[in-house]
Amino acid sequence: CGIVGYIGTQQAAPLLLEGLTRLEHRGYDSAGIAVVGGGTAGALRIAKKAGRVRGLQADLPKRFTGKVGIGHTRWATHGPANDVNAHPHTNATHDVAVVHNGIIDNAAALRHRLADEGVELVSDTDTEVLAHLVGLSTADTLERRVSEALALVEGTYGLAVVHADFPDRIVVARNGSPLIIGVGEKEMHVASDLAALVRYTTTVAHLEDGEIATLTATGFTTYRTDLSHTSRPATTLDLDLTAYDPVGDGAEGGHMHREMLDQPAAAERVLRGRLDERFGTAHLGGLNMDARETRAIRRVKILGCGSAYYVGQMGASLVEELARIPADAEAASEFRYRDPVIEPDTLYVAVSQSGETIDTLLAVEEIRRKGGRVIGLVNVVGSAIARACDGGIYLHAGPEVAVASTKALTTMFLGFSLLALQLGRTRDLSIADGKRLIAGLQALPAQIEEVLKSEDQLALVAARLAEAESLFFIGRVRGFPVAREGAQKFKEITYRHAEAYQTSELKHGPLALISPVVPTVAIVPDDELADRNVAALHEISARGGPLVVVTHPDVDLGDVRCERIDVPRSERELDPILMTIPLQVLAFHAATTLGLDVDKPRNLAKSVTVE
Ligand code: G6P
Repeated sequence: CGIVGYIGTQQAAPLLLEGLTRLEHRGYDSAGIAVVGGGTAGALRIAKKAGRVRGLQADLPKRFTGKVGIGHTRWATHGPANDVNAHPHTNATHDVAVVHNGIIDNAAALRHRLADEGVELVSDTDTEVLAHLVGLSTADTLERRVSEALALVEGTYGLAVVHADFPDRIVVARNGSPLIIGVGEKEMHVASDLAALVRYTTTVAHLEDGEIATLTATGFTTYRTDLSHTSRPATTLDLDLTAYDPVGDGAEGGHMHREMLDQPAAAERVLRGRLDERFGTAHLGGLNMDARETRAIRRVKILGCGSAYYVGQMGASLVEELARIPADAEAASEFRYRDPVIEPDTLYVAVSQSGETIDTLLAVEEIRRKGGRVIGLVNVVGSAIARACDGGIYLHAGPEVAVASTKALTTMFLGFSLLALQLGRTRDLSIADGKRLIAGLQALPAQIEEVLKSEDQLALVAARLAEAESLFFIGRVRGFPVAREGAQKFKEITYRHAEAYQTSELKHGPLALISPVVPTVAIVPDDELADRNVAALHEISARGGPLVVVTHPDVDLGDVRCERIDVPRSERELDPILMTIPLQVLAFHAATTLGLDVDKPRNLAKSVTVE
């Protein structure tokens, strides 16, 4: 979900709507704004609606004036995406408005308590409870009312509150869900994501968990929940602002396409200054580990969610192959719930584009609580996961807005390559192998560019795949995470059923489903397993299954009938990333063929900051 807020000298509504548009990738089930009218006791106006921000904008009443306001774009958790459940939520007398990200764990108990006091709740949401709690407080300041309400609440929140009786301020609070204050000229902004702020200011302050802040037109003040003051100076960020610019919406696939094409440049950014050609190693200063500490590592455990988890599996292979340290990846969302054994000689690695994914963040906190060492592979500088780790590697992918990850994922893979190289070179990996890998890494940006050049050919293949209701993506060993990521990307933006399977396991089940209407996308690198993979292609072909094969030019596919997609040869350890790129392009063009909104696939959101 996304939160915005504005207080200053301009009309709030247009600014709030603009901010929400920039946050829509965070949730787009419904949207709403609340504005406090002028005067000493301003009336509160609320407009909210299921669906996209543009729908809200189109239906906004003509007179929606006021220079103080908050807004929200929702990814539904409690209750369906309808007008009533949309934020802002208000109390019975309509003088409080609240927007909220996160989950109030004791909402059910609080609903009962409010009902006992005669309060009538109109929505299914946990947030409405907050609005009533603030509304019921009779404390003399809005800060106290919010603080009193929060004292009753268990759970996570990033929230913003306006009140008709306190028209000169917005009160915000954070516990587990990000909020950033933006400092302007005689105006203040607040948002859950930089994307909504950068158009107005790059001078920002990140609120910490357990903090409350007051925004007035001239400044901000931060407090602990007991309202004792904290010090939170604003800093000015150095950012590439163009990357945040809105691009075409809907079927043109604006952001995803742009981010896909930015991959060669992103690959160069993550490698820059980190390769040591002389000693065939990588320099990763941010790890905060010396050679003695890296040599003491007995295991590497990688944690992430979604695409970050799949690229984590690719990373585990890199670590095992190059550093010969046992390594595996696990979904952070599973890991944190199973009371994992935390070992002092294991290096834990959290991987996340946003640095906010709550499951990954809570996994990091759990590991650290139990004395484990965690490093982060994170894109967003200063994000919660980056700050919670002992050290890490920033990915420098630049802002990634499309829900389906492309360039961040590529930089994650390269981040793992650098890590594996550095770990390898403090152990067994020879200088020759180190240099071989470095040459391979340096060649990648141009090779990625080359794959992207075949977009037109891939679009034709994609149009045919788009016709299938159900598809398989198969790969073996290094190729399996590629297949998983390929299937994930395909299903999340085309809504087709796409299932990943190990090529080796095909005959133990899925072969039963192979037929002329179920295509398979197979990953067949030119490696020691190529023969086994080609044998599997024959088994699929013999059963009439259409095939798309992502492979290398030297691989002999015999008489297998297929659409062949050749990617350039790389060092074999690096093959997975070059094989992932065409799968992104296939998913993108299949979704475009189907006329779908590639950047905002239904039911999903870019950063999942709720449990
Ligand atoms: C969500 C997104 C995915 C993303 C995952 C992890 O599920 O829809 O595209 O891979 O979160 O996000 P992170 O920011 O931690 O990489």
